[in-house]
Amino acid sequence: MELGQVLEALPPLTDPRVLVGAGTGDDAAVYRIAPDRALVATVDFFTPIVDDPTAYGAIAAANALSDVYAMGATPLFALSIVGFPRDKLDTGLLAKIVAGGAAKLAEAGVPVVGGHSVDDNEPKFGYAVTGEVHPDRIITNQGAQPGDLLFLTKPLGSGLVATAIKRGLCPEHLVETAIAVMSELNQAGSLAMLEAGAHAATDVTGFGLLGHLRNFGVGAEIDSRAVPYMFGVRELASVDMFPSGSRRNHAALAGEVDWSGLPEDEQLLLSDAQTSGGLLVAIPPAAADSFRAALPKAVAIGVVTADRRLRVRP
Ligand code: CO
Ligand code: CO
Ligand code: CO
Repeated sequence: MELGQVLEALPPLTDPRVLVGAGTGDDAAVYRIAPDRALVATVDFFTPIVDDPTAYGAIAAANALSDVYAMGATPLFALSIVGFPRDKLDTGLLAKIVAGGAAKLAEAGVPVVGGHSVDDNEPKFGYAVTGEVHPDRIITNQGAQPGDLLFLTKPLGSGLVATAIKRGLCPEHLVETAIAVMSELNQAGSLAMLEAGAHAATDVTGFGLLGHLRNFGVGAEIDSRAVPYMFGVRELASVDMFPSGSRRNHAALAGEVDWSGLPEDEQLLLSDAQTSGGLLVAIPPAAADSFRAALPKAVAIGVVTADRRLRVRP
């Protein structure tokens, strides 16, 4: 059983103020506090995925904010979560992690208002972020309509990069690209999708592109050749640098995706577990051009279909 499923095995929620809770695989919880106001709450932390402590902090911040942006909400403030081996590592490293995170949150206009730290064998860092949204304007992972265009706002491959870094085998240019991609805020994408009247959205993280697409609960046809990857990631795929999470994602999709004979490394690329990935957004066709104009980096990778099947075109 996935650990997340254990966490979600709670008694069913009956409180009408909980607009989005655990169990739908959505990005953040949403709780109504007034007819026209709801709070959005999410928490995310992880072990270091890059060696540069400042970049690690920035990526953790962008990743934690991302779940708020994916719901079309505005982040308000953050609490930091820290695990750190104070007897093994210089606390100067932690200062750099914290500073990197705070700078990224400041870029988003989000103050860090507190936090909690524990002594831990392995560093862990992240945030609990609280945001705000109008209850009628929440964008969840449900609601995509047949004919909607599926857009992805960041290139894939961070799972492969993280593994290559751990093994000391990642080319420096790719480390730099991945840091830039992972520390980029999904704020602009969130504003653009709200403007375009997106029907559904999520950020692409641990379940990979197709795992998160499956959570939309609709059929879709993905054009594998349209899916963007960071430059150099295919070389890592060809030497099998996939993390175990990507393999688990791929195995979990067995029988649920029609791969149309796509080679296995391409299937694994589409299943690669991401950190601080981009938004996957379902945009009504009439708004596709204006969405593209507002967010030139967004790439159309497929279309929502009327059946429940997930299909990948080679
Ligand atoms: Co998410
Ligand atoms: Co999350
Ligand atoms: Co969402």
